[in-house]
This record gives sequence, C-alpha cells and structure tokens, in this order.
Amino acid sequence: MKKLIIAIDGPSGVGKSTLSKILSHELGYLNLDTGAMYRTVALAATRRGIDAGDYAALQALCDEIVIGFARKDGTEHVFLNGDDVSSAIRTPEISLLTAAVAACPDVREAMVARQRELGAGGGVVLEGRDIGTVVFPDADVKFFLKASAEVRGQRRFLELRAKGVDVDLARTIAEVEARDSADTNRTTSPLRKADDAVVIDTTELDIPQVLERMFAVVADHRGRAQQE
Ligand code: DC
Repeated sequence: MKKLIIAIDGPSGVGKSTLSKILSHELGYLNLDTGAMYRTVALAATRRGIDAGDYAALQALCDEIVIGFARKDGTEHVFLNGDDVSSAIRTPEISLLTAAVAACPDVREAMVARQRELGAGGGVVLEGRDIGTVVFPDADVKFFLKASAEVRGQRRFLELRAKGVDVDLARTIAEVEARDSADTNRTTSPLRKADDAVVIDTTELDIPQVLERMFAVVADHRGRAQQE
C-alpha cells in the first residue's frame, strides 16, 4: 500500500499533537511535530542569549544545531544537540518566544527543508501550521483542525494544571489568542487553511470522535486511489 503524506494544520490547543501521535501510531507512520522544531530553535536561542529579532544570528544558529526525535518508553522525545529538551521546550516563556522565532523567514526556510527531507518518502504524519500550504502542498491527505479560543485555552489550562503548573484560566485563553494572532498575521507562511484541506471543528468533539473522522477520510482517500 502506498505510504501517504498526511498533513495536520491548525491553531494551538486544537488537539493536533494528540491526534497526530495516535494517527501515526495506528498507521505505523513517522510522527513529525514541526512545532517542536521551532520550539527547539527558540530554546537554543535563549540559551545562547540570541534575541528573537536578530535574524542573522537565528539563521546561523539553525545551521549549527542538530534537532533530533526519538520514541522512548512509548513517548516522543525531542533533542537539541543530543540533549533531551522535551520538557524545556514546553514552558509558557518558550511558547511565546517560539511564535516570534517562527516568524523569521530564515528559520522557516531551514526547518521546512528539514521537514521535507524527513517526510519525502511518505509514511508520515506532519503536524504544524503550514504543512498543507507550504511544506507539502501536494500531501495526500490534508486536515485543518479548528476550535474556539475559549475551548482551546481551557484544554491548555487543564493540561498545564495536570502537570502541576500554576496557571490562570483567563491568562491561558489570552495567551492562546496572542499566539493565534502572531501565527495568523505573520508575513511568512501564516497559519492558513489549504484550499483542499478537510476541516474538522473539534470544539464539541472528543479525541475518539475526531479520530473516527480522520480515519474515515484516510480510508476514503485510499479507496479512491485504488480505483484510479
Ligand atoms: O504547535 P506548537 O504550539 O508546538 O507550535 C509552537 C509555535 O511554532 C507556534 O507559535 C506556531 C509555530 N509553528 C509554526 O510557525 N509552523 C509550524 N509548522 C509549526 C509551529
């Protein structure tokens, strides 16, 4: 069976990571969390004292660092030059900084090149903001997930609280909205639905319900491909 390239795009807190992990696991595909790549660049910049507005330094940084992925004990880990940074890239400070770093065209160029390299052979689920529009405009299956900012903020709030992080709901919703605005309004590769993407509104759906729809779309794609 042909190994597909599956793109999942949408704003933060919409469920992309969870869905992408399950979908890729069930299909026996590679899971590529492209947001984790931008987060790792932001973390590397912080550690080196590089300002998010210093595009020349960010470009040099991207040439220098090695971002790796590995599945360990059933969970996915991200590495910066061999160092496990899976937790360090998830703090609210790094989340905010990442939106700024991801607006740098040189950073995007470097990350997109790497994503294409990793995904070119197919058998991959990529999740991000620009997968269906820029990274793989010819992806076999494209999803665009959406949900209200309140629901996404609430999900993030519960997630962080479960991890023992002291957070405030109104502030978490405001942060989700601030990131939406940064991701949607940047000049290079803004968050946008590809014309041929299947839209799923997850506001009132739980994970199994969204997955059911996604698997139906993948099965439908395969059915049509077999007939051609
Ligand atoms: O999906 P995430 O929350 O981990 O993404 C972190 C940030 O990176 C977010 O501000 C959007 C940005 N991003 C991007 O610009 N392009 C992608 N393909 C993935 C993430």
